[in-house]
Amino acid sequence: MKIMIINGPNLNLLGTREPDTYGNKSFETYFSELQFKFKNTELSYFQSNIEGEIIDELHKADQDFEGIVLNAAAYTHTSIGMADAVKGIKTPVVEVHISNTHAREEFRHKSYIAPNAKGVILGFGLLGYDLAIQSFLNEK
Ligand code: DQA
Repeated sequence: MKIMIINGPNLNLLGTREPDTYGNKSFETYFSELQFKFKNTELSYFQSNIEGEIIDELHKADQDFEGIVLNAAAYTHTSIGMADAVKGIKTPVVEVHISNTHAREEFRHKSYIAPNAKGVILGFGLLGYDLAIQSFLNEK
């Protein structure tokens, strides 16, 4: 199975960014752990701080991947364009957030992505990505 992980803005700073909220592991380190754990799954990873690049990647991933794990970060709460992209593609998208966005500022409570996501996982730290992958693997 081929699964694409897409991370949005500022998630390139994982490891050093607000460690009390997001932990102190870089995503590159965690991605290697995921590849090691899910050896029989073809995992790919893309990160961008640019809205349109993430939308382009969602379109591209729709051609090649059977599942998409998306942490749209701040764009979750703002981007109708990204929500439309998730709605417009056929590959199912699982929305992930490292932090429990509902326990944070009110502006993080709204997700434009969630109505068109297959499911949403939040508040479990980086484990959320692992759980999202498992959700795709367990469905058959
Ligand atoms: C986040 C939550 C968002 O509100 C925030 O803007 C992020 C990260 C999370 O993974 O917890 O950048 O998506």
